[in-house]
Amino acid sequence: MRMVFLGPPGAGKGTIAALAREYYGIPHISTGDLFRNNIKNGTELGLRVKSILASGGLVPDSITIEMVRNRLAEPDCARGFILDGFPRTIGQADALAEMTGLDAVVDFRISKEEVVKRLSGRRMCPSTGRIYHILFNPPKVEGKDDETGEDLVQRPDDREDAIVHRLEVYEEQTEPLIAYYASKGLIKEVDASLKPDQVFDLLKKVLG
Ligand code: AP5
Repeated sequence: MRMVFLGPPGAGKGTIAALAREYYGIPHISTGDLFRNNIKNGTELGLRVKSILASGGLVPDSITIEMVRNRLAEPDCARGFILDGFPRTIGQADALAEMTGLDAVVDFRISKEEVVKRLSGRRMCPSTGRIYHILFNPPKVEGKDDETGEDLVQRPDDREDAIVHRLEVYEEQTEPLIAYYASKGLIKEVDASLKPDQVFDLLKKVLG
């Protein structure tokens, strides 16, 4: 199964991808996580993209496309993959079409108001990337990762000004991909406003 998860920031793409990865036995490739790992490890790529991510803007297509091309060439992608956060522009979608075919593009549908609630309460484990929400999915011990016990952190782009900018960027640059993939008959809509297990059930249903 070769899937793309589309949807605004905070729609729950990463949360559902963590469930789908186990269920379908395919890797979850989040371009946001790949960039954040580079930033954490202080790589050259990380230094180049750090301020872009913090502001909520998009990393240039040339950098992002090359990173995804390399990742998809790894052996674990041979049986399929979940691409989360890529493509985000028409240029990226055209480049992806040259790299691989797709079986489905899942459009996670949710209101802006709900997205803002979700992002402002999100916390994550810095080493594993495990995602929590202070109200909707709290850790067992406040502020600590359930497995590693590490202090949870708030992403720099989950500040209010960056959230607003990310939503604008999504509307301008990424939303047109819904029509792009609909014209290819690949779009599967999912109501992302429900609880995670309900969203995951809907996903399994639309994927058949
Ligand atoms: P990225 O990491 O991809 O961020 P995003 O698309 O903005 O998506 P998020 O990770 O914010 O949200 P999500 O939908 O995964 O929601 P989550 O599951 O965490 O990208 C970050 C940055 O990297 C970009 O801004 C850009 O700079 C750069 N970048 C990445 N890809 C790029 C590309 N292709 N081109 C150029 N630049 C790129 O859930 C959110 C919260 O809600 C959590 O707290 C969670 O616990 C909670 N939650 C989730 N589901 C539910 C539910 N059903 N009910 C209640 N709460 C829920």
